[in-house]
Amino acid sequence: MAERSDPVQIMKQEVGKAAAARVKSNSIVGLGTGSTTAYAIEYLGKRLQQGEIKNIVGIPTSFQAEVLAKKYGIPLTSLDAVDKIDIAIDGADEVDPQKNLIKGGGAAHTREKVVDSLAEEFIVVVDGNKLVDKLGSTFLLPVEVIPMAIAPVMRSLAKLGGKPELRMGIKKAGPVVTDQGNLVVDVKFEQIDNPAELEKTINNIPGVLENGLFVGVADVILIGEIKDDQPVI
Ligand code: 5RP
Repeated sequence: MAERSDPVQIMKQEVGKAAAARVKSNSIVGLGTGSTTAYAIEYLGKRLQQGEIKNIVGIPTSFQAEVLAKKYGIPLTSLDAVDKIDIAIDGADEVDPQKNLIKGGGAAHTREKVVDSLAEEFIVVVDGNKLVDKLGSTFLLPVEVIPMAIAPVMRSLAKLGGKPELRMGIKKAGPVVTDQGNLVVDVKFEQIDNPAELEKTINNIPGVLENGLFVGVADVILIGEIKDDQPVI
């Protein structure tokens, strides 16, 4: 595994490794999306190739996770073929003290919620900068919307007190399109006092597929921090 020198990358790498080290032989593993989980997938593949663990199958939460799993030699399966997921490893954009999350910075939160919610143990891997007292303080809330409903959904989100923005891709050449072929609206809420209620309210708007609030889903939060110039988990 290539070692990184940027402190944030080092934190992400170490926390990804720590999560992958928790995976035992004979496990079905949910493979999350994002730069931190990418390190976990890389290290999990390495453990498998070195024979440290055996008989692992992954369920990817995105095309990105699928590509990485193939690159690092992790066999894949689908939810049609299994009746449980033993452990899922995934990143987050914000984590509150109750282990509630905002996810979807990589536009993959819909599949992530399916896989992460099914896991017997869901491990979240984050660097220390993701910890907040209240969700919504630093990150906009991603909402996946089917394209024909984008205008009414944005109006409904504004009525809920949010400031919705259609997520644009690199160089703003066009909107970001999810693995499901949908669009993402990022919503600024002044504060999210009741994430459980907001999660349900937004998902009730016709045309919304899923939003990035993960309430009561995470079991373990692994946090990477730098102390005395050294990464600690
Ligand atoms: C993708 C996600 C990611 O897990 C989240 O954005 C964190 O990514 P990173 O580890 O790159 O900071 O929710 O939809």
